[in-house]
Amino acid sequence: MSNYDSYQTPLGSRYASKEMLTLFSARTRASTWRQLWLWLAEAEHELGIEQVTDEALEQMRANLTMTDEDFEVARVEEARRRHDVMAHVHTFGQVAPAAAGVIHYGATSCFVTDNADLIFIRDGLDLLLPKLAKVIQNLSTFALKYKDLPTLGFTHFQAAQPITVGKRAAQWIQELIMDLEDLEHAREQLRFRGAVGTTGTQASFMEIFDSDGDKIDELNKKLCEKAGFPGIYHVSTQTYTRKVDLRVANVLSALGATAQRIAIDIRHLAHLTEIEEPMEKDQIGSSAMAFKRNPMRSERITSLGRELMNKNANFAQTFAGQWFERTLDDSAISVNPSSACTRHVVNLGASLDNVTNGLVVYPQMIRAHLDAQLPFMATENIIMRLVSKGGSRQEAHEQIRVLSRQAGLVVKNEGKPNDLIERIRNTEYFSPIHADLDAMLDPSLYTGRSAVITERMCAVAEEKLARYSDYLGKAETVQLSL
Ligand SMILES: *[C@@H]1O[C@H](CO)[C@@H](O)[C@H](O)[C@H]1NC(C)=O
Ligand SMILES: *[C@@H]1O[C@H](CO)[C@@H](O)[C@H](O)[C@H]1NC(C)=O
Ligand SMILES: *[C@@H]1O[C@H](CO)[C@@H](O)[C@H](O)[C@H]1NC(C)=O
Repeated sequence: MSNYDSYQTPLGSRYASKEMLTLFSARTRASTWRQLWLWLAEAEHELGIEQVTDEALEQMRANLTMTDEDFEVARVEEARRRHDVMAHVHTFGQVAPAAAGVIHYGATSCFVTDNADLIFIRDGLDLLLPKLAKVIQNLSTFALKYKDLPTLGFTHFQAAQPITVGKRAAQWIQELIMDLEDLEHAREQLRFRGAVGTTGTQASFMEIFDSDGDKIDELNKKLCEKAGFPGIYHVSTQTYTRKVDLRVANVLSALGATAQRIAIDIRHLAHLTEIEEPMEKDQIGSSAMAFKRNPMRSERITSLGRELMNKNANFAQTFAGQWFERTLDDSAISVNPSSACTRHVVNLGASLDNVTNGLVVYPQMIRAHLDAQLPFMATENIIMRLVSKGGSRQEAHEQIRVLSRQAGLVVKNEGKPNDLIERIRNTEYFSPIHADLDAMLDPSLYTGRSAVITERMCAVAEEKLARYSDYLGKAETVQLSL
């Protein structure tokens, strides 16, 4: 049976980076369990548990990576024992016989499953953060390049005061930075579950260490050092609290929302032919309409962002539905927000990277849209200029209102260009400012402090991204297969 004969999720491995796919592979998972058993055994040994011998540790160390044969043994064991963790305990014991009797000593299944999940969440975030940083950096380059290019602003998707192309991108940058900060925070707040027993009371370890609580603290300190966590959660049940999963999923969902919002803006800009996502020379937009240039990558981001946005609802339900010290309805699909969201995040990230790395701007179209609206934009300034030359504000306002309405009707009823300025030129009342009119139609007069706002935002971005400079220095363009 080939891939063509079995169900393939559209979120398959198409864009997932190799490191991400490896991180969430069965081998990494099972090998991480082995690593956790080794760390536990080492720590117990160091704390004087004689049953854990040097030979046991050596054999465990020599067999940390699950081989294909190990997987086959584990499969048979699991079919027999109906317990995945015990199947792996026995499999590990077969290749490290001197350790067979002490693997998992004092632990419960969640010692490996949950601690491993925390490691995967952490490592997944560590892979994601620099990629997000790159998207922000690319957008910053774009924003600075176009910080002065006036473009029509839209409120209600109706023409509003001009902004600049860069200022609009600066808005996106700020929103992405908020996600970056929240992801960093979620990452920094992560703790280890550690070795705390079946209901989180550490009772089994009290048995092992003759009721010496200090030794259990020492055990967990050693485990945290080995696994690279700053400490364990103060309180756990059988699991680390599922609130942690929700916390991470919330941030990932928020990132999905941001990505979707940016992609929708880009799709609207593509409709206006003002800005396009990168297209390849031979790319086909539509099977029938050969002229089409569809913003398919931004559409994909929208769709993935929507999926991601809904993920946290699931984690909220799982968390809320945990009874007392744990119920197992948390684990049929995946308790791990980092792996549950990975394909979405990875696909979305790759597309976002591709789009933000190659946005194409059409300044003439942007100018044409501005020119169609600028006469209206200029009216407030025209009124003020007239007043400064002795006119009445109220009278000027009324004159402009009437002329604007006439010009609007010409546009809407006759499909002709906006002729408001011509009407003003032909109206004697406005003669004091006729000479000023051309200068008043310079769009950059109406973009306010867009350029400064953009520069400031990008300076903040640069500061935020400093910690990712190693990655950004050598980051490569993601190759999309579609
Ligand atoms: C597993 O450990 C044993 C004992 O140390 C060693 O002989 C064997 O080579 C190890 N297996 C692998 C795959 O390294
Ligand atoms: C996007 O970022 C990468 C990595 O920092 C850089 O190599 C690339 O030139 C950037 N692209 C643009 C369009 O700025
Ligand atoms: C986007 O992805 C396509 C397909 O992999 C690639 O040819 C193109 O160079 C990428 N564009 C940018 C700007 O990253």
